[in-house]
Amino acid sequence: MLLFGPLRCGECRATYPVAEGVADLVVEHSAAGTVQRGLENRWVARSYERYVRPVLERALTRQELDRDSEYLLYRSLLGRPEAPVLDVGCGTGLLARRLAREPDFPAVAAMDVSRAMLEEGVAQAREAGAAVDFLRAEAPHLPFQDHSLGAVLMAGSLHFVADLGRLMLEVARVLRPGGRWVASTYVPPGAAAALVHRRLGLHPRGEALLRTEAAAAGLVRFERVALPPLLVLKAEKGSAESLR
Ligand SMILES: C[S@@+](CC[C@H](N)C(=O)[O-])C[C@H]1O[C@@H](n2cnc3c(N)ncnc32)[C@H](O)[C@@H]1O
Repeated sequence: MLLFGPLRCGECRATYPVAEGVADLVVEHSAAGTVQRGLENRWVARSYERYVRPVLERALTRQELDRDSEYLLYRSLLGRPEAPVLDVGCGTGLLARRLAREPDFPAVAAMDVSRAMLEEGVAQAREAGAAVDFLRAEAPHLPFQDHSLGAVLMAGSLHFVADLGRLMLEVARVLRPGGRWVASTYVPPGAAAALVHRRLGLHPRGEALLRTEAAAAGLVRFERVALPPLLVLKAEKGSAESLR
């Protein structure tokens, strides 16, 4: 879907520019770490799917999943969302494009903080004929109304967000009752590696901490699917009855 702007917030009346099919909601970008600075480079974005993504995958999780199996894993964990799905840290929209072409799938919005990734994402979605709404915004803030989304996907982007507590609260806020949060991340091999990764701007966490923060935000049915160092996770916003 091609967005035309500017966008105006119905509540506060602020306006945000739309350029090259990307709505830009970032007012002030927080300081990017080393890895993130790379992901904001145009040439990195252009070669992301073919070269950069496989290299990152091997470096962080010591394995490279085949694309179809990976997609099918996320697809099955997302279940049958009944409201729009948000792909947070969508990169070039590799997964968002496929989700948007699924029959009877709700609308797909894809958000990233990297303009270069989003511009590449818009071009690729157009080429693939996939209707995805791309927006530039920075997690942990998720610029959506309360209870408006059927699912939130964070494939390989969870460890880029420093404030996990705030992120989980935002996920719980925007999900509808029964909506799912599906994410993947990795566990670093030891404390020394974790320190190095933090210096690079990455925040990998273990399953126990992720489970605790998800529960603290009110998410239920936490599941860990893949084994460390890769972690694929799913949790749900409690149903309307369980929230009463
Ligand atoms: C490793 S890539 C994963 C991209 C995509 N999900 C995939 O599976 O290929 C991580 C993405 O998260 C984005 N990102 C990093 N920090 C972010 C933040 N705070 N808010 C939104 N996106 C962020 C980066 O720009 C990058 O595109």
